[in-house]
Amino acid sequence: MEFYETQVEEYMRRRCREHLNLQEKLLNRPLAFDYRLEHTRTAVEIAGNLAAELGIDPALARIATWLHDIAKCWDPSLSPEDNRLRGEKHASVGGEEAAIFLDSIGFPPGLVLQVQQAIAAHAGLIKDYIIHEPLSAIVWDADKLSKVSGAGMLHYLGKILSGGNERIDLASFLADEDWKELHQGIRDSFNTEAARLRVDREMAAAVRLRSQMLAAVRGNHP
Ligand SMILES: [Fe+2]
Ligand SMILES: [Fe+2]
Repeated sequence: MEFYETQVEEYMRRRCREHLNLQEKLLNRPLAFDYRLEHTRTAVEIAGNLAAELGIDPALARIATWLHDIAKCWDPSLSPEDNRLRGEKHASVGGEEAAIFLDSIGFPPGLVLQVQQAIAAHAGLIKDYIIHEPLSAIVWDADKLSKVSGAGMLHYLGKILSGGNERIDLASFLADEDWKELHQGIRDSFNTEAARLRVDREMAAAVRLRSQMLAAVRGNHP
């Protein structure tokens, strides 16, 4: 499994780099932050940890999570419009694309199907049903945990600082609480006990991180 994991990681790093280069060309300026890679890398680590706790092969969980947003990495042979449409269906399309790649490197066919199903099942942020298939449950939980964590906040900040055209006021960004309701919804969407146990700590740590950063920005003594 280690051999495949290395191949998948290298492939996805290349795809993230290619995606960033396409965005740079479109915007006609360099982008300092690779959101796709940063988000994926954090989700991959979380998936490996959850899998170990649940008795699932951590390498398999990491492979599926490396590939989970493959269809958000733009395909250079498609127009921007077609890439955007592909991104809207990125779970089902990504499952198919991941399966084609895994087949090409000789990944065991039974596991290819599991990975494809896990990727196809990760669409959305909030749901009111439980995913019981273990790999699909882990990919969902790792993806969403990475979003509600302190890392998710930093990834979002990096994305808007690097990619957006709006001026960002750091103190307003850090003091903003509009995300709380969404994060509560995400919190209620987890599949595994391991993720449910972890999410409250992750969310509390994110709140502390925000308030510490806000105090620092405002020049308050610790
Ligand atoms: Fe996704
Ligand atoms: Fe994701």
